[in-house]
Amino acid sequence: WGKTGHRVTGEIAQDYLTGKAKRALKDLLDGHSLAFVSTFADDIKADRAFSKYSAWHYVNYPLGTSYRDSQKSEYGDIVMAIEECTQKVKDERNSREDRVFHLKMLIHLIGDLHQPMHASRAEDKGGNDIQVQWFGEGSNLHRVWDKNLIESYGMTYTELADELSKVDRKQRKKIQEGTIYDWVDESHAICAELYDSVEIGDQLGYRYSYDYNDLLFQQLQRGGLRLAKVLNNLFA
Ligand code: ADE
Ligand code: ZN
Ligand code: ZN
Repeated sequence: WGKTGHRVTGEIAQDYLTGKAKRALKDLLDGHSLAFVSTFADDIKADRAFSKYSAWHYVNYPLGTSYRDSQKSEYGDIVMAIEECTQKVKDERNSREDRVFHLKMLIHLIGDLHQPMHASRAEDKGGNDIQVQWFGEGSNLHRVWDKNLIESYGMTYTELADELSKVDRKQRKKIQEGTIYDWVDESHAICAELYDSVEIGDQLGYRYSYDYNDLLFQQLQRGGLRLAKVLNNLFA
């Protein structure tokens, strides 16, 4: 996601943290909100010292297959990164600096895990090579899902989060079921559908924005509620 997607994810999660998780996060994040730190992993991308983390934001494997059965990248991927971050934060023998770094990465990566084009295929770099027009301007399928679509609703991240935080307990528990492995395959299956509905050179605009509104909001909501689950378990 772009900044808005990550902030929405963080802001939704904030509403569903346990007391214990809230206290641990307040300490490690120096009082900053999840939304505030959620974009950290993108902010460090421009710094060459952090280039080894660029493969952490996504995973590519053949459509129609599962992550578990896929050949793993030597550079790591979003699933391996989430596991590493979880371990690093959990182990209190690690330095505070190391734990804080991996916590901020984790908060970002649970968001990206729910951007369907971040659980994608290698051939076109997760849609980056699928050039399309967005309201008459050059874009690509990856960018449409990172930011064009979300921006088309003209809502701030807090407005989006308020809307998507409204979920009853039963619904929330249902959404929070499963593991990282289930969630990555779920995003990957959605990604396959998105490829089917677009061709190179398509003119996307109002129609696409309307048709994919529910799916976009669903992925943001899942990301937020599941981030809360991951953090609650981590600090239980
Ligand atoms: N580069 C290659 N594949 C990618 C993906 N799925 N998402 C983001 N960047 C990528
Ligand atoms: Zn990212
Ligand atoms: Zn992206």
